[in-house]
Amino acid sequence: SGPTLAIVGVTGAVGQEFLDVLSDRDFPYRDIKMLASKRSAGQKMMFEGKEYVIEDTTAESFKGVEIALFSAGGSISKKYGPLAAAQGTIVVDNSSAFRMDEGVPLVVPEVNADAMSHIKLSNKKGALIANPNCSTIICLMAATPLYRHTKVKRMVVSTYQAASGAGAAAMAELELQTKEVLQGKEPTCHIFSRQYAFNLFSHNSPVTGNGYNEEEMKLVKETRKIWNDNEVKVTATCIRVPVMRAHAESINLEFESPLDEEKAREILSTAEGVIIIDDRAGNNFPTPLEVSKKDAVAVGRIRQDVSQEGNHGLDIFVCGDQIRKGAALNAVQIAELLL
Ligand code: A2P
Repeated sequence: SGPTLAIVGVTGAVGQEFLDVLSDRDFPYRDIKMLASKRSAGQKMMFEGKEYVIEDTTAESFKGVEIALFSAGGSISKKYGPLAAAQGTIVVDNSSAFRMDEGVPLVVPEVNADAMSHIKLSNKKGALIANPNCSTIICLMAATPLYRHTKVKRMVVSTYQAASGAGAAAMAELELQTKEVLQGKEPTCHIFSRQYAFNLFSHNSPVTGNGYNEEEMKLVKETRKIWNDNEVKVTATCIRVPVMRAHAESINLEFESPLDEEKAREILSTAEGVIIIDDRAGNNFPTPLEVSKKDAVAVGRIRQDVSQEGNHGLDIFVCGDQIRKGAALNAVQIAELLL
C-alpha cells in the first residue's frame, strides 16, 4: 500500500534513477505508471520483480495518480504539470519550468522542508513542487549549515559540471567521443556543438542579456528563494567538464561575522546528508568519482579565505552526484515529506 505514483520521463537518466532511489528507500506505493514519449510507448520494463509497460504521456495519464515525479524536460512539465495538479496529483517537478513561480515551493528537504509543509497527501489536493537545479542543491547542501550559523553576505560559486545534467544522450556522447578521440577519429558532436572529451567548456545553457548563462542565474535566483533571503549576493561561473555523473563546485563564502575553519568543520561534520573528505596531509579531497551513485554531498578544502580580513571568509570544495542528490534523490525525499 501507499500512493499511486507516476514517473514522467522514466526512460531518461533521472527517470531511471527515480526508480533506483524509490527501491533503495523502500518508498511505499500501490502502483507506478511508467510514462515517457510515444517513442518508448509499448516497451516493457521490470521493476522490483514486476513487469510494466511504458506508456505515452497524455492528459489522461494522471487519473488516479497521487504523486507524479517529472523529469522529461521543461516543455513536458509545462504541458502536463499544471494539468495533473488540477486533477489532484501532487507533482514533484525536476525541470526549471515552475521553480521561480510564486506559490510553488522550491525545496531541498535538508534546507527548507517547511516551505512545503502545507502540502500533504492526506489533503487530497493537487500541487506543484519544484526540485531545484542540480548545482544549486549540491551547493546549498554544504553552504546552508554554515549560513545558519553565520549569515552569508556573498557567495561566489565556480562549477565543474558532469555530462549527466544534459541527460542520458550527453553521457553516451561523452563515452563515444572519448573512444573516437583515442582512436584518432573526429568526435561525434550531436548533443554539444564541440568536442567534450579531453576538453571543458562554458555551460551549454543560453547566455542571457547580462552575460551570465541560465545555469549561473539559476544559482543566483534559486539560492535567494530557498534561503528566503533577497539580500544575499551570489555570483557563479558554470563549466561543463568531461565527468560522467557528479558535479564539483568551488564555493567562496563571505560571512556577516567571523567564522573560523574549525567551527565550520564542526558544523559540517554533523550536517545531514553531508560528509567531510578533508585530508590535507594526504592531499585527499572530494572527487566526482568518489561521490558517484552516493547520496551524500562531500565537502573538503575547508579553509579560511586569506583575502578576507578577520576570518570573515571561507573556501570550500564540494562534490555531489548530479543524478542522485542533484535530481532523483532530492525529488524522492520531497515525496517522502508528503507521506
Ligand atoms: P523517451 O525515451 O521516450 O524519449 P534524459 O533527461 O535522459 O534526456 O531523458 C529525457 C526523458 O524525457 C526520457 O524519458 C524521454 O522519453 C522523455 N521525453 C522526451 N520527450 C518526451 C515527450 N514528448 N513526452 C513524454 N516524455 C518525453
